[in-house]
Amino acid sequence: MARTALIAANWKMYKTPAEAKAFVEAFLPLVAGHTRDEIALFPSPVLLPTVIASAAGSNVAVGCQNMHFAEEGAYTGETSVGQLLAIGATHTLIGHSERRQYFAETDEIVNKKLHTALKHNIIPIVCIGEVLAERESGQTESVLKTQVTGAFAGITAEAAAPIVIAYEPVWAIGTGKTATPEMAADAHKIIRAEVANLLGSDVAAAIRILYGGSVKPDNATALIGQEEIDGALVGGASLKPDSFTAIVKY
Ligand code: 13P
Repeated sequence: MARTALIAANWKMYKTPAEAKAFVEAFLPLVAGHTRDEIALFPSPVLLPTVIASAAGSNVAVGCQNMHFAEEGAYTGETSVGQLLAIGATHTLIGHSERRQYFAETDEIVNKKLHTALKHNIIPIVCIGEVLAERESGQTESVLKTQVTGAFAGITAEAAAPIVIAYEPVWAIGTGKTATPEMAADAHKIIRAEVANLLGSDVAAAIRILYGGSVKPDNATALIGQEEIDGALVGGASLKPDSFTAIVKY
């Protein structure tokens, strides 16, 4: 089955509004008319209005890096799905490894956020991946299965269509160490098989699984070119328009 690739930029906690605006103004002409892949930017919440306004009417979507599972309430410092939709965000990351590592997000929290995202029609990118010690001790498969099972608890096949998964081995994030295309493809096969197990083969065949972790212009073709890899979630190399464009045009 042909799956349209999604190439996504996770800017993490970088850029001011002026820098974000300058990025979008430089980037849009570079990717104008590029319809082969979907493109999305994930800036910090404070940058969202600027980036959404700058990208309006273009082929570039904009989403948040995180979202709370509650619709509203006394959750200081958090952002709700309604707030994101009201300003025009269309996507959200859920359960990025930095959220899991530094902000104690569990599979249970990821699951609650996924339910909220699907209920309100914001496109969720659910991030999973093993840490180095888990890979080295042969636990990659069981960790990925546990994360997929936990994230998807209570999700039906009918509701699952918008979901995107990002496989981001934690040891490859920001380290310059990339999974080889074969390692990434093997992990994606494990994830897709688990989705098939939970939600059936049609959902599994259609779901997009992105790879993230030190994706750069010089390794993007080999990674995204893999049959199993349906795009990329890019950190460091997405901060400059030229390098992110080179990845978009892998
Ligand atoms: P790097 O591309 O900087 O390794 O970051 C990957 C990532 O965490 C994207 O979400």
